[in-house]
Amino acid sequence: MSNDRPTQEEVLRRAVARAHRAPSVHNTQPWIWELRDDSLELFADPDRMVSVADPSGRQMVISCGAALHHAQIALSELGYDTTVARFPDTDDAFHLATLTVRPVTFPDQRNRTLAEAVATRRSDRRPLGPLSHDEIQTLVSSLPSDAVSASVLSEDGGELVREASELAVRERAGDDRYHRELHWWSGHYRLFEGVPRSALPPLAKRGSVPSGREFPAGTLEPARDVPDQANLLVLSTPGDTALDWLRCGEAMSALLLTAAVTRLGACPITHVTELEDSRALVREATEQAGETLRFPQVIIRAGERLVPGLPPETGRRPVEEILRVRVTGTR
Ligand SMILES: Cc1cc2nc3c(=O)[nH]c(=O)nc-3n(C[C@H](O)[C@H](O)[C@H](O)COP(=O)(O)O)c2cc1C
Repeated sequence: MSNDRPTQEEVLRRAVARAHRAPSVHNTQPWIWELRDDSLELFADPDRMVSVADPSGRQMVISCGAALHHAQIALSELGYDTTVARFPDTDDAFHLATLTVRPVTFPDQRNRTLAEAVATRRSDRRPLGPLSHDEIQTLVSSLPSDAVSASVLSEDGGELVREASELAVRERAGDDRYHRELHWWSGHYRLFEGVPRSALPPLAKRGSVPSGREFPAGTLEPARDVPDQANLLVLSTPGDTALDWLRCGEAMSALLLTAAVTRLGACPITHVTELEDSRALVREATEQAGETLRFPQVIIRAGERLVPGLPPETGRRPVEEILRVRVTGTR
């Protein structure tokens, strides 16, 4: 009699392939997974850090947090419960998590739905329509833990974010290193990494989403020429440590996948939290919304898609480049 159940190693490999679809800053994919005999390990890859925009590695760790959440829901869909130890090695700051798994009889239906949405989630930089009250509630309640909160900005808060965005653009204007780094990672046709031109709006349409990062010009047509009416949700944490960043990435992943399940458009925005002056304006916006957590990390712009169809899928490096296998007993 044949046993069709995949081995644990096969299951972990499938989960890594799913997790590789996670969003990451400039599509840098700054993660390395290591398969061990009885665990799956997640490491940040500092060689893929955007060191001008993100000198502390905050966005690198947030990106890895998103991959960590993607892996957990993928494992759940495959019929496994996951236990996660975050920062398991005090001597290695890049060792972000150890995942151990055990089979379950009844996979979690919610996670299964989220896992299916991995394939249709995209960063959508087109103008979007406003969310309904219920849609906002669904997104806010998707966060997996109290370690991260989502504040929904009012119109005044949105105005502060636009000010923050203009301030960040002004402060970066003479920063050649920032612009060189941004152009290295975006606006071209590389297949496996970076933000392709096809995912970015053309220059003439950039103004229609005033809170967005100014990437090089692209070819993504908004299809309907309307002003952006998306809602802004700010993810904040109580501290600004690597653990806060990792948790923030996990929460961001849950929120973005929930948006994908409900066929909403969504995109992370971080140029406004990279520099202290603009981050202070974002903090002011969250305080206006009643937020008590002090550290805004990522803004999620979310709204109704105004045209059918998804933005194009962005590329990923081959899984062999981000997955290594450590066999016990070998050197
Ligand atoms: C930590 C983080 C920061 C990001 N910052 C921005 C940003 O400021 N502006 C933007 O348009 N997209 C931003 N993104 C989205 C990435 O560019 C996007 O995830 C990546 O290009 C892969 O594309 P995909 O999300 O469609 O798979 C960010 C994503 C992450 C995880």
